[in-house]
Amino acid sequence: MKCAQAGYGYWGRNLMRCFSSARNCELTVCCEPETNLHDQIRSQYPNVRNIDINLETTLERPEIEAVILATPAALHHQQVKCCLEAGKHVFVEKPLATSTKQCEELVSLADGKGLTLMVGHTFLYNDAVRWIKNFIDQGELGNVQYIYFQRLALGRVRKDVNVLWNLAPHDVSIALYWLGEFPREVLSTGQDFLQSGIDDISFLNMKFPSGRFVQVHVSWLDPSKTRKAVVVGSRKMLVYDDCSPDQKITVYDKGFDVDGKPQDIGSRPFDSFGDFSLIQRVGDISIPRISFREPLQVEAQHFVDSVTTGGKPLSDGRSGAGVVAVLEAASDSRRRKAAVELSSLSL
Ligand SMILES: NC(=O)c1ccc[n+]([C@@H]2O[C@H](COP(=O)([O-])OP(=O)(O)OC[C@H]3O[C@@H](n4cnc5c(N)ncnc54)[C@H](O)[C@@H]3O)[C@@H](O)[C@H]2O)c1
Repeated sequence: MKCAQAGYGYWGRNLMRCFSSARNCELTVCCEPETNLHDQIRSQYPNVRNIDINLETTLERPEIEAVILATPAALHHQQVKCCLEAGKHVFVEKPLATSTKQCEELVSLADGKGLTLMVGHTFLYNDAVRWIKNFIDQGELGNVQYIYFQRLALGRVRKDVNVLWNLAPHDVSIALYWLGEFPREVLSTGQDFLQSGIDDISFLNMKFPSGRFVQVHVSWLDPSKTRKAVVVGSRKMLVYDDCSPDQKITVYDKGFDVDGKPQDIGSRPFDSFGDFSLIQRVGDISIPRISFREPLQVEAQHFVDSVTTGGKPLSDGRSGAGVVAVLEAASDSRRRKAAVELSSLSL
């Protein structure tokens, strides 16, 4: 499969490295308007034989079957649309677009033309995230009751998007993947300390039809780099720490039993503090071994394989649209200072 990539900035470099080494994939064209980057592209990727400065030229190349977009979020809608209209399969970095309406247009365009549209929700290709999905699906945690995510660091402060649209797509995509349902209500707030009108800290609360609750805290203004999720189930709990090199997941056999049974099969609700303290359970702590592959490599190969086999990508246009619908509702909630109801989407 012959590919072109548009955008060779901070993230585009990582994508080019991974797509260049993917099986059955030949990355031969790069489109990058910053001409001072062209020598670097040529010297590092001799197979990239053509460098264009605008996407229209790239799309006129008949040999190109698929385009990888690693450009700023505000350009995604228009660029994905042009690529699909030119008959190219598309891999686009998150977010798919900046509104649900735009996403719907892109999904139906891709469907209508029978083209693959995949969104770069990298964490769905992370072996630890997949291990947790399997653990949840097998009922090991019992009923998942709530999850909170923290994705915090000092900087990379952006000017084109706020911290919610920059970082929360990761955690929202993970939450929807793990839970397999779409929130019915979103409540969000944030604050712009560094750049007026661009939130650098943000809190997003999601309530799901099943009664589950998820909170996402994202920040560019934090002393330490944190990428963590805590998943609380009725039988067990776990901590996912993406920054840990060798202890990404810790499972705690902790919780509260009712009449000696796990909560979800117990018969009696708590009615006093005495009951509450009696039935607390503190069991083993375990650290599963995860054989870890580079998520971006897995993601790039998955796109190539989806195009060549005609299979549906895990993070297809529809799932990318679901993430954008949550972010759009969160922005609405922040503006209105009120919870926003979401209509159900099929994931
Ligand atoms: N999946 C992840 O973990 C992850 C991490 C970082 C960024 N991203 C995403 O990657 C995308 C790019 O982010 P970034 O941090 O690399 O931004 P960046 O600003 O560093 O890079 C963007 C690049 O696109 C180029 N560009 C601008 N207009 C263009 C056009 N019309 N045609 C072709 N190229 C054009 C710019 O010159 C620049 O080199 C964003 O959507 C961002 O959300 C994803």
